[in-house]
Order: sequence, then C-alpha cells, then structure tokens
Amino acid sequence: MVTPIRKAILPVAGLGTRFLPATKAVPKEMLTVVDRPVVQHVVDEARAAGIEHIVFVTGRNKGVIEDHFDRQYELEDTLLERGKSQMLEMLRQETMGPGATSFTRQQLPLGLGHAVWCARDIIGNEPFALLLPDMLHKPTNGKGCLAQMVDAYAKTGGNHIAVYEVPPEQTDQYGIVGLGTEVADGVHKIASMVEKPKKDVAPSNLAISGRYILQPEIFELLATQERGAGNEIQLTDSMLKLAQRQDFYSVTFDGAIYDCGSKLGFLMANVAYALANPEISDTFRPELDALLAKN
Ligand code: UTP
Repeated sequence: MVTPIRKAILPVAGLGTRFLPATKAVPKEMLTVVDRPVVQHVVDEARAAGIEHIVFVTGRNKGVIEDHFDRQYELEDTLLERGKSQMLEMLRQETMGPGATSFTRQQLPLGLGHAVWCARDIIGNEPFALLLPDMLHKPTNGKGCLAQMVDAYAKTGGNHIAVYEVPPEQTDQYGIVGLGTEVADGVHKIASMVEKPKKDVAPSNLAISGRYILQPEIFELLATQERGAGNEIQLTDSMLKLAQRQDFYSVTFDGAIYDCGSKLGFLMANVAYALANPEISDTFRPELDALLAKN
C-alpha cells in the first residue's frame, strides 16, 4: 500500500518574462484559456486526480491568484438574487473548500527548485504532486495527466515524472529522460535524466512535461540551496541526486501539451480548448475556418 498523494504544489512565482508586456501587472497564470485562467485548468486537473490541498508558491504581484480561489460573497449574493443558480453552482464547484489552499511566498525568484523547497513545511513528510501551472495538459481520453500518474504511482510507489515526445532536433530545449524497463503500460523506470542535451547525445526525445510525484526526501536535497544552470536552484539537480537512492518512473502522457508561458503555446491552447468546448465549438469552428481562409 503506497502513501496516497493528497497535496500538490503549484509554483506561481515566476516572472513570466516571455509574455511581457501582458504579464507586467497580470500574472501569466491568470491569462485566460477560453473561459477560465490557466491556473484554474491546472487546479481542476489536480482535484480530478484526488488532490485535497493545494500549496501555491507565489511572489509579489500575484495576490489576484489568491482572490481567484476565494469565494466572492458579493458576486454570489447578486447571482442568487438574480436567480442565476447554474452559474452560482459552477462557481461553488470550482472554488476550493475552506482550508484546502495554502499560499506561501518565494521572496526571490531563485529557480523552480527553490520554489518547491519554500513549500516544505506545508507539505511535511509525505509524497506530493508538483504541477507547473503554465503547462496545460489536455488529455486524449478524458483522464487528466496527474490522474494517469496517480494510477501508475499506486502500482509502483516511488517518484514519477510525466513525459511527452518532442521533435528530436529540439531536445536541447527540454529536460530529457532515458527509459529503462517498462513496468506497466506506458510506465517505465527512468534510466537517466539530462538537462537540455543536444540531439546527438540525447538518450531519447522524451521531455519532462511539468507534472511530478515526488517523495519528501527531495526537500533535504533542495535544502543545500546549490545553484545550477542559470545560477538558479534547479529541481532537476536534486532529482538526479534522489534518483541515486530512490526509483523514478516516467509516465508517457496520452494527450497534447501547451506551454502557456509562451505566446505560441498560449494561442494554440486557446484554439484547442475552444474547439473542444461544446458551448462554443459549433460557432467557433466556422469563424476560425473563415479567418484562416482570409489570412
Ligand atoms: P518558467 O521558467 O517557465 O517561468 O518556470 P518564468 O520564470 O515565469 O518564465 P519566463 O521564462 O520568465 O517567461 C517554470 C515554473 O516555475 C515557476 C514559474 O512560475 C513556472 O510555473 N517558478 C520559476 C517559480 O515559481 N519560481 C522561480 O524562481 C522560477
């Protein structure tokens, strides 16, 4: 019996420089994909995987994320008065319950590893999920990426990383894993992890996608605060050390991934999610076709 994954970390303290000037005052996680902020899509994915508590690692100018996950009393009251019960119900379902969120600040953007370490006391001594909130994982078969990983984790325990195929000539933009034996359908032991390898030395074209299940021992390794690439405290460096004493598995995600921290990924996500949204796809599709025909 493995320890269940109850808590998730969402690091939202990055500066979002690739999306300036949009992210000057609005956090990139609050940019909207169809009808909800990117971060809400990721929280929905986490909750669908059974996560009960979400730890947001925030920074300055990110207060609006906390407001988004709070109840809006005046709004709810007005909706109730106007008889908009469906809308009210939707808002209530999407709000995390009392005590189910924590917010802690990463005072300086010292890297992803440092952001994760900032959540150590709130997570405590139990395995946890880590979801990078700018990476949207749109599943093919309805089952979210973290839910697929939780299923795999239930069989093996240990640490899990979601991976996806990238074009071989682009391996030098990603963390890449080399696979060992297959332990279940689409689940392999990880034999190696390399940060941004050139195509000719990359162990595969499987990139780390931004979803992890990690054991709490990662915090001891992050605590050394060693700087890595870009003078940042890198999560990958600590995962490599942890891999010397614990098993790491890869779960090949069955779906499409959009990097909403980049302009192209964000635009692609909006199109893909709109085409899949029953409320607007029927009207959006012909509009999109017409636009493409004209441009
Ligand atoms: P990114 O490198 O994609 O985010 O980090 P960024 O720094 O905001 O992006 P650019 O390059 O300036 O546009 C991946 C994730 O890690 C978080 C980010 O918020 C993002 O979710 N992160 C990164 C932190 O929380 N703190 C950090 O110090 C660095």
